[in-house]
Amino acid sequence: MKCKRCRRAEAAVDLPSHHAAFCPDCFFLFFRRQVTEGIRKLRLLAPGDRVLVCVSGGKDSLVLWDVLMDEGYETEGLFIDLGIDGYSDRSKEKVLAYAASRGKTPIVVELAKEGIPIPEAARCVRMQECSVCGTVKRYFFNRVAAEGKFTVVATGHNLDDETARLLGNLLHWQRGHLARQHPLLPGEEGGLVRKVKPLWRVSEVETAAYGFLKGIDYVTEECPMSEDATSLVYKEALSRIEDRMPGTRIVFYQGFLDPSNPLRKGPEAAPIPEEAPMADALRVTDVEAEGDTGTPRACAACGAPTYTETCSFCRLKERIRKARSMRTARGSR
Ligand code: AMP
Ligand code: FES
Ligand code: ZN
Repeated sequence: MKCKRCRRAEAAVDLPSHHAAFCPDCFFLFFRRQVTEGIRKLRLLAPGDRVLVCVSGGKDSLVLWDVLMDEGYETEGLFIDLGIDGYSDRSKEKVLAYAASRGKTPIVVELAKEGIPIPEAARCVRMQECSVCGTVKRYFFNRVAAEGKFTVVATGHNLDDETARLLGNLLHWQRGHLARQHPLLPGEEGGLVRKVKPLWRVSEVETAAYGFLKGIDYVTEECPMSEDATSLVYKEALSRIEDRMPGTRIVFYQGFLDPSNPLRKGPEAAPIPEEAPMADALRVTDVEAEGDTGTPRACAACGAPTYTETCSFCRLKERIRKARSMRTARGSR
């Protein structure tokens, strides 16, 4: 099959949802245009932004960094070493290698050094790893951005991620989450940095194809802690629908983002610092339970922006500290 755009080269990527098939060069153009259109439509980024790109070592975030650099944005990468045996080291290697290939050195936060490696922290407080991981990652994304004077934090969530989350929120009528789900979470006074998801218009398959054809080496394994995440069930359901009816995902999500959708508040009306991770979508977060109106204040313990006395990260650390000291006390008896 020939490329639908140049009509000369052989097509390498088939995209039924766009009724198109492209050769590698035309696909690069198409993909970049999808991302820049997504940025422009929702005004996610401005030319003068300093962007902190959160890179996990997976395809989405490395592709995001690649595209943003190619588009001329000023970027730095942030990798959080979660302290997960083997997986974290392999992820870090990919991030460092990619960064080096672009003449960059990423910022690295090591949770083991911070005293909160995810597996041990989750065991201590008897919580799901993903839940602990979400709180800790959000905290460091914001803290590193605020300390480094970045104007915006970008993550690699793609259309599959966002629609899976939307489906989960709809099926359980999580009205609070629905009102705030958006590729743009505005910043707030008091150190809350704007967060954006520039890949919201591109699917996982498209991102993987871009990464592969560009020769970006990324980790292909899933996090071992997320094997039974509910988000995978929603992704699978949506994939089956998409296979039968190509284009459904983007129609579903764009319809949801329509400003006239009564389920959503505009992003300007959504001051929330603590976006729930997908695995958390079925639970009421502390922010939601307490309401999210008003301006955030400084956490009494660490100074991070929060709507409560101390931020959820400090509360988590306190619970871990208590659990550890109880364990030590029991051990010395
Ligand atoms: P996930 O929640 O694992 O689906 O990841 C969503 C996005 O969060 C990724 O595309 C990255 O932008 C970011 N992210 C996830 N894990 C990390 C990490 N360990 N370090 C930095 N950014 C991360
Ligand atoms: Fe956070 Fe796996 S527990 S990425
Ligand atoms: Zn705090």
